[in-house]
Amino acid sequence: MDRRRCRRRRSGLAAERLIANTTESAETAPAYSAFAEIYNAWQRLYGLEYAVLVAPRVNQRLAHHVGRPRTLIDLACGTGTHTVLQAHGGTRVIGIDLSPAMLHQARRRAAGRPITFLQADMRTFDTHNPVDAVTCLYASLNHLLDPEDLTRTFTRVAAHLRPGGVFVFDLNSKHAFETLWRDPVTEHGPGFTLHRRFNTKGAQTTMRLRIERPNHPPAHDTLTARSFRESIVRTSLADAGLTFRDLAHFNPFPSVPGTKLKQLWTATYR
Ligand SMILES: C[S@@+](CC[C@H](N)C(=O)[O-])C[C@H]1O[C@@H](n2cnc3c(N)ncnc32)[C@H](O)[C@@H]1O
Repeated sequence: MDRRRCRRRRSGLAAERLIANTTESAETAPAYSAFAEIYNAWQRLYGLEYAVLVAPRVNQRLAHHVGRPRTLIDLACGTGTHTVLQAHGGTRVIGIDLSPAMLHQARRRAAGRPITFLQADMRTFDTHNPVDAVTCLYASLNHLLDPEDLTRTFTRVAAHLRPGGVFVFDLNSKHAFETLWRDPVTEHGPGFTLHRRFNTKGAQTTMRLRIERPNHPPAHDTLTARSFRESIVRTSLADAGLTFRDLAHFNPFPSVPGTKLKQLWTATYR
């Protein structure tokens, strides 16, 4: 959701017109309802999907702490790219997401694999069974707008990890919001044009999307996200009973300058 794309349209006026032309309220539909339809194709526009780019780093951390997980929860699994990548070698995977539209895409992608999908909020999910590993990728946790929600989510993660189990998650840094969630952008994909514009207030940014497809009325989506100071994340982990293990700063996107766009965190339960 956060790569700097080519073919940018930087005109604020043009962006204002996009919003003025809105005919349906994106505020009332759950986030990702419209975006889900083009989410995978949008990621592939400029190379590999994010989950593929980040997989070596994630797998290295999983292997270090638990070997090949026998059971894994992919939290905020979205359209299931990472969920499907993990479902091999006997690993049973549960994908959890709040968005029915994203889960619909995930189920289609995962057909025939040992994956269970659940619609649930990551702040309150309960699958009853402890697992070896939990992952939460592509800045999904940035959608939590209150540090208390971060702690609530981490507490649910701790409740689902067996002793020694590992939690690997990423966050967009403040730098990522300042550079990637700022200028209006228009992107052209196979059968769609996507306009995105941003509104920032303090640590929180709202991204408004307008999706144009031939023979479809324009569709709209609104995503809100925020950055978290590292100290807040560390405190939330500790409050949830998770042990901080590692923090790596990285940038998986070859075409984007900067080294500190993403944070990859590793924590364990005991
Ligand atoms: C940027 S997408 C990432 C999806 C996937 N992890 C990936 O790598 O492509 C963020 C996902 O977080 C989900 N999400 C946002 N808030 C959530 C919540 N409170 N509980 C569960 N899922 C949530 C959204 O529905 C969306 O699918």
